[in-house]
Amino acid sequence: MQASDKKGQSGMEHRYARESKCYKTSRVFPTDVNNHNTLFGGKLMAYVDDIASIAASKHCRRSVVTASTDSVDFLHPIRPSDSVCMESYVTWTGNSSMEVFVKIIKEDLLNGERTIAATSFLTFVALDENRKPVAVPEVIPETEEEIKLHETAPHRAEMRRMRRQESKKFAGYLTVKQPWD
Ligand SMILES: CC(C)(COP(=O)(O)OP(=O)(O)OC[C@H]1O[C@@H](n2cnc3c(N)ncnc32)[C@H](O)[C@@H]1OP(=O)(O)O)[C@@H](O)C(=O)NCCC(=O)NCCS
Repeated sequence: MQASDKKGQSGMEHRYARESKCYKTSRVFPTDVNNHNTLFGGKLMAYVDDIASIAASKHCRRSVVTASTDSVDFLHPIRPSDSVCMESYVTWTGNSSMEVFVKIIKEDLLNGERTIAATSFLTFVALDENRKPVAVPEVIPETEEEIKLHETAPHRAEMRRMRRQESKKFAGYLTVKQPWD
């Protein structure tokens, strides 16, 4: 039986965190670096959104949109002699929203040393055929890391809810005028 066939007491479908897992390993090419000769942050952010959207889609098998990115925390620079390995999976779900974690591991290709170079949490929302938010399966975490991230997710979701309210309030103060208007 597939995990997607399982229904919990709530009647909701469940999927294991591992079912949404995806990985991508890239080289750092000369066109990917900044003036410090390390991986350009914008390039990494594009990778992060890309792989996280795949994890979200694998979890719910729906169209998804990025609702927000909490942060991309750049912990260590990534150099041209490193490979960049990204791992992504859904850690927690609300009703239509999914929290997706992305872990970025750099590996020095000359000596094999691996370091966590960056981490990120993003929120994706599943959409139905009318582009309206639609309920997604719950997540079953299994590994120590998955369980830790699942347990701590409600707190991050609450932080996001408050930040969204602030962002909406803030947007109300902003003008849409352009300099030439
Ligand atoms: C994200 C979006 C679909 C939410 O739609 P909405 O009509 O505001 O829907 P709701 O307020 O009912 O929110 C739906 C869910 O999204 C979550 N959500 C919405 N905005 C969020 C944000 N900024 N951060 C985290 N979660 C958010 C809500 O908490 C809710 O979660 P739940 O269903 O698990 O409780 C809508 O704001 C949108 O289309 N935004 C633009 C997305 C986009 O263009 N992304 C970039 C390209 S992919």
